[in-house]
Amino acid sequence: MINTYDVERTYDWNYQNGPVYNGPFPEVPKTPGKNFLGLTVNSRLGIPAGLLLNSNWIDAYGRLGFDILTYKTVRSQYRECQELPNWVYIEGDDQIDPSKLDEKQKLGASRPADGTKVTSSVSFGMPSKSPDEWMPDVARARDVLRPGQVLIVSVVASPEPESDVSEMIADFGNLAAMAREAGAQIVEANLSCPNVCTAEGDIFLDAELSGKIAAAMHKGAEGIPVLLKLGHFADNIRLAEVLQAVDGNAAGVVMVNGISRQVVTGDGKAAFGQGREMSGILGRGIHAFSLDNVKTAMDVVSNDNLSLEIVAVGGVKPYFDAGAAAVMMGSAPMFDPTLAISFKQKYPDW
Ligand SMILES: Cc1cc2nc3c(=O)[nH]c(=O)nc-3n(C[C@H](O)[C@H](O)[C@H](O)COP(=O)(O)O)c2cc1C
Repeated sequence: MINTYDVERTYDWNYQNGPVYNGPFPEVPKTPGKNFLGLTVNSRLGIPAGLLLNSNWIDAYGRLGFDILTYKTVRSQYRECQELPNWVYIEGDDQIDPSKLDEKQKLGASRPADGTKVTSSVSFGMPSKSPDEWMPDVARARDVLRPGQVLIVSVVASPEPESDVSEMIADFGNLAAMAREAGAQIVEANLSCPNVCTAEGDIFLDAELSGKIAAAMHKGAEGIPVLLKLGHFADNIRLAEVLQAVDGNAAGVVMVNGISRQVVTGDGKAAFGQGREMSGILGRGIHAFSLDNVKTAMDVVSNDNLSLEIVAVGGVKPYFDAGAAAVMMGSAPMFDPTLAISFKQKYPDW
């Protein structure tokens, strides 16, 4: 079984040595050009912030025919990764019920053979190299792109609990400028992280704050498109308010990030260790409710005449059928790196 990220080893090991993949590298089918946020791409198949740790990862997955490549979230300062484990499998392939916030997810003993059926969970703490390291590496990532491929750089602010909200907004804006300067063609703000400044849940749930961050990113991005990564909305009215607040400054939203849940071992202990009880659940188990959120967002865009594009994360066909601008596969390409090639063979118009 292929695992291009070695989950038994540290983030730094995977950063330096990954991806763990020696092929096959089948020929990538030629596909007609499409428009994505004003850029020409071979396909609207991509990888969201996560698996692509640096330019080596972007090079390998570009060679494997993924055309919208997102550089894993970076910060304006160095941040260490949390200790191992960082990535674990969840037992079974049931859909997670988004309304059951307290439901615990059980650690799986091994990974299912079919990569598209894997539910997993990550806890990295959004590590980042310092700008001195990631900016030149983003430039290299841009250089290794093939024709018809685009580079998104994901960024996140690093506020302290005592920081003022305006400092956090300014951090996002500066990061947009740094990412653009380094070579990003599109910048993405990861808003699906806790609002440390006011401790009022995740940033993306606050329409006013999301709107201000979108405006700061737009300014810093100086004309290149801005995307916002959102988490799961239990409340459709709030989803509509957020989309209305960011429209105009953001070119699109990427949804849905992993859903936060407790992951426990067979004897009920925190799978990632004490203090790291909650972690993001990804993959198979979150597809049903992600699709639901994406469809609602498409309805809001059309009913309110918004100019936002919806970039979907997770399962593929239902999202294109729903009208998504692009589909990003978060964890599945780690288990099956040839997914984009198989999709291009069958669906050259994606
Ligand atoms: C190893 C790994 C690391 C991730 N790190 C980030 C991150 O730094 N920033 C972010 O916005 N999302 C991150 N994600 C979340 C993915 O972008 C995506 O939202 C998630 O995997 C759900 O997609 P999936 O169901 O297709 O896996 C990460 C995912 C994985 C697998």
